[in-house]
Amino acid sequence: SGFFTYDPGFMSTASCESKITYIDGGSGVLLYRGYPIDQLADECDFMEVAYLLLNGELPNQSEKQGFVDEINNHTMVHEQLATFFRGFRRDAHPMAIMVGVVGALSAFYHDSLDINDPEHRSRSATRLIAKVPTIAAMCYRYWMGHPFVYPRNEMTYAENFLNMMFSMPSHDEKPDPVLVKAMDRIFTLHADHEQNCSTSTVRLAGSSHANPFACIAAGIASLWGPAHGGANEACLNMLNEIGDVSRIPEFIAKAKDKNDPFRLMGFGHRVYKNFDPRAKVMRESAHEVLAATGKQDDPILKVAMELEKIALEDEYFIEKKLYPNVDFYSGIILQAIGIPVNMFTVIFALARTVGWVAQWKEMISEPTQKIGRPRQLYTGESHRDVQPIEKR
Ligand code: CMC
Repeated sequence: SGFFTYDPGFMSTASCESKITYIDGGSGVLLYRGYPIDQLADECDFMEVAYLLLNGELPNQSEKQGFVDEINNHTMVHEQLATFFRGFRRDAHPMAIMVGVVGALSAFYHDSLDINDPEHRSRSATRLIAKVPTIAAMCYRYWMGHPFVYPRNEMTYAENFLNMMFSMPSHDEKPDPVLVKAMDRIFTLHADHEQNCSTSTVRLAGSSHANPFACIAAGIASLWGPAHGGANEACLNMLNEIGDVSRIPEFIAKAKDKNDPFRLMGFGHRVYKNFDPRAKVMRESAHEVLAATGKQDDPILKVAMELEKIALEDEYFIEKKLYPNVDFYSGIILQAIGIPVNMFTVIFALARTVGWVAQWKEMISEPTQKIGRPRQLYTGESHRDVQPIEKR
């Protein structure tokens, strides 16, 4: 018993104070530490954005170099972690492997971890940001049955990830700069999004002072759902299923039908009731990448553009303020880069690791930090006595 505010889905509960990310959903504004997302996507690379999210300020040249060097020191994973992969079925979903392998890092870095020590917290943050691309690429290589590719620290974060995925044929070759830029932008646009489902999961798990690597694994598990990070995968599967512009009205009708659980994937957002500012940047990037890869006539892009147009003019979507979100376009870009659909959410997890870690650090550093422990409205049976089994 007791009087608690009942707020299912936390529609109106602020669970923390935070200085990291600001969203004004009504106006379509997203700021990291005060800076608009479109400016960051245009003018900074992901390492600068990661530094900003973690430290509160953009780095100057030498601060950036120091941060990049620090990350590069930790890009390798322990060779024993590679053997851990072999326990998974080859056809396992890469997100299932991510949850397991990132969680397993807690076994490698447990005893030396003292989360009350700011230096140890920073080291965990660095290790996570550095190792997640290596692990993500390993998931793909394992699924393909190809040998793992070691990180190459003379490459940028995005180059290195693409190289670990697709392995450049000769040593002095680097991935295509247009694709690298698009990849880097995808990382920036997904890096943080205040108290979304997975970030709240990381904070809640971390509030008990659990091992940070295990907390990030919890975040990955939460991100996997199709209502959250799994939407980019679900969106591309949906576009493929639609297949042709002539079938769009049928799918729009299904999405509007109250008796049909089908939703248009990549549309709608809990917070944005206006265009998702990340989707604007992503839309531009999608066109750049398709032009660079000669895939402008891709039938899936045609379906996507037509679907966007029809939905934006449809009364149902206008009335419910359902606009394309970040995941509507990211899948098109990832597919053009050559990344298979089942890796899309892994890439979201890779990018969001920076946000999770920044939010975890912010929470743990608070002097008044408390364990997260929501209450409930009990709606079950009232007191009753246990009957002996023969009388039940
Ligand atoms: N297609 C059709 N109808 C929709 C959709 C959609 N994509 N999204 C919401 N609605 C309807 C919904 O049926 C409801 O109608 P009514 O008021 O008549 O019951 C109304 O709009 C409000 O929806 P809600 O589910 O109450 O809103 P929510 O804030 O709880 O859900 C959402 C937000 C993102 C889960 C939802 O819009 C959705 O399921 N979208 C599709 C999945 C998706 O693209 N998710 C990615 C979100 S962005 C990346 C991330 O954050 O991970």
